[in-house]
Amino acid sequence: MGIPDEDVAQVRAATDIVALIGDHAALKKVGRRWTGLCPFHTEKSPSFSVNAEEGFYYCFGCQSSGDAITFVRAMEHLDFVEAVRLLADRAGVTLHEDAESGKDRQHRTELLDAMERAVVWYHERLLTAPDAGRARDYLRSRGYDGDVVRKFRLGWAPDEWDALSKDLKLSERVLTDSGLGFINRRGRAQDAFRARILFPICDPSGRPVALGGRILPSRAGEPPPERPEPKYKNSQETAVYSKRRTLYALNWAKHDVIAKGEVVVCEGYTDVIGFFQADVPRAVATCGTALAEEHFTLLRNFAKRIVLAYDADSAGQNATSRVYEWERKHEVDVVVAELPGGSDPGDLARTDPDALARAVAEARPFLQFRVDRILNSGDLTTAEGRAHAADAALTAVAEHPDDLVRDQYVMQLSDRCRLDAARLRERLGHLRAHPPVGTGESRRRPRRDTPPAGEYPNEGDPGDLRDPDDLNDRDGGPRIPLASARGGPGLEALKLAVHRPEDVADRVHAVLFVDPLQREAFTALLDHRSLHEAIESASPEVAALLRRVTVEEPFAGDPELGDPVDSVVTVLLRGAVRRALTDVEKESRALNASWQDGAAETAQVRLWLAELDESTAGNAAADRLVAWLSEREMNEV
Ligand code: UTP
Ligand code: MN
Repeated sequence: MGIPDEDVAQVRAATDIVALIGDHAALKKVGRRWTGLCPFHTEKSPSFSVNAEEGFYYCFGCQSSGDAITFVRAMEHLDFVEAVRLLADRAGVTLHEDAESGKDRQHRTELLDAMERAVVWYHERLLTAPDAGRARDYLRSRGYDGDVVRKFRLGWAPDEWDALSKDLKLSERVLTDSGLGFINRRGRAQDAFRARILFPICDPSGRPVALGGRILPSRAGEPPPERPEPKYKNSQETAVYSKRRTLYALNWAKHDVIAKGEVVVCEGYTDVIGFFQADVPRAVATCGTALAEEHFTLLRNFAKRIVLAYDADSAGQNATSRVYEWERKHEVDVVVAELPGGSDPGDLARTDPDALARAVAEARPFLQFRVDRILNSGDLTTAEGRAHAADAALTAVAEHPDDLVRDQYVMQLSDRCRLDAARLRERLGHLRAHPPVGTGESRRRPRRDTPPAGEYPNEGDPGDLRDPDDLNDRDGGPRIPLASARGGPGLEALKLAVHRPEDVADRVHAVLFVDPLQREAFTALLDHRSLHEAIESASPEVAALLRRVTVEEPFAGDPELGDPVDSVVTVLLRGAVRRALTDVEKESRALNASWQDGAAETAQVRLWLAELDESTAGNAAADRLVAWLSEREMNEV
């Protein structure tokens, strides 16, 4: 397992610690030192410094200190050996480890190499190949000149099965594990991307880790394709690519983000490029997934102001009320840029770049944005209209965790709706004490950013459905509304239980339902011979839920890419186990007794969780987890 001391020393010497830390926090040179906001604790004025020559950092605020290796260990949660490997990777140092432990690292290096070569290859195709003519025309028509194409390293995947696989001669393993291709049913290597314009997705230091690919619009007069393809297709997660921890274009935006203390978060690759073209070169995009807390953790070290710039239509819906918690926890300000109706940043950059820049400059706090939106859609000219609008706006205000902030909005509403502030406060107090089911504007309305079924077919890789929070992934998983009070994977499982009972017979179990109502509904189904009987003998709430499920179609998925039941069951299981794990941890903290036993148990459970993703060990792990959950519940009673 060991790495020779000389190698460790060499890795330390070869690492540029300023560049390394610069991937996580903004550093400015002050005299001979570099200083910035500490990436290990939240602070407003910089107390973190780095000495480049000695290769050390120290924080005057939280006293954390160390060298490149300690830094990587803390930041990436790695052990010593893993951290040294990662740094060796970066610095191009070859370690003399024993074969077993070097394998992982070597594999990652192989994947990164393959990605880099693929990006170069696709880029070259776009620039020079005759078959890329249409792609070049399309990009030109969108206002992308050679500079844009080169800066963002855009590429073209030709309309062939295996052009890349054949040319790069990647091993089967590297091809599959990098997500660049797969082995098809006839046992031949096949490219993952075909007839698409490619947007390389890089890590913060600029190494390509994944690709996003867009189809070309169909030609005028051309019949629509028989089996429509999704507009965008994105790489699956790999050993070098985690969606929730990656932001498209951060590598290019970093510099300006740090300089301006502000980052613009938008939805798509083309939106980011639009911002760069409109001279706002500090835009990033989530990679086909909803904004997650991990994104905040990454961003807060670069900038304190986070501007959400989504399509005009989805702006309010796209961020959850958890944004407020994240704002507080990570001490950032989240503001929303309002784009003129119907436009997305990519389009606006072409038609009116100044308006785009202005929208960013005039961005408002998330809650203000929501309140304005609610009031603007109401009728403030009548007494009834004002009362109604105020009521709706209060629901949004009630979600904010800070009472001082809430009170500011109460006064605003009192002004704008001509209502007594005291009455509004009373109402607000009531709302906070009894939050309506599925609170908040964003949850009560259908999420417009979630396209209606069939708008773009899912790519349907069930392995993509990582956990309930990720259900809104735009590629991969089923488009299940964000886990609202009664939604999420549980609802999806119920649908399957109603519509495809034979397929879920021994796979979905009552213990998997975290939501009590959903669980009750499921047990009711099991306990009765027919759906009707179940509904008749159930409580009104359960009956209503069962009725709802009856009229909803279960997620169909893509028959070629595996059974949707698998993905739903996995997500459900994962959610239930996570919940149980949290309970176990709470219990053992409370008891403070057999902590050791608890730790061993949870470690085992976590292992099984990890195995769920593996095709071979996955089923066994699922069975064990179900057994574990059931046992826990029996002991509880
Ligand atoms: P949009 O549909 O808004 O596309 O999806 P766009 O960014 O405006 O692209 P253009 O301008 O039409 O070329 C926004 C983002 O959602 C994800 C992609 O990450 C995309 O950039 N998406 C969209 C998918 O993952 N799959 C899809 O089928 C569509
Ligand atoms: Mn667009």
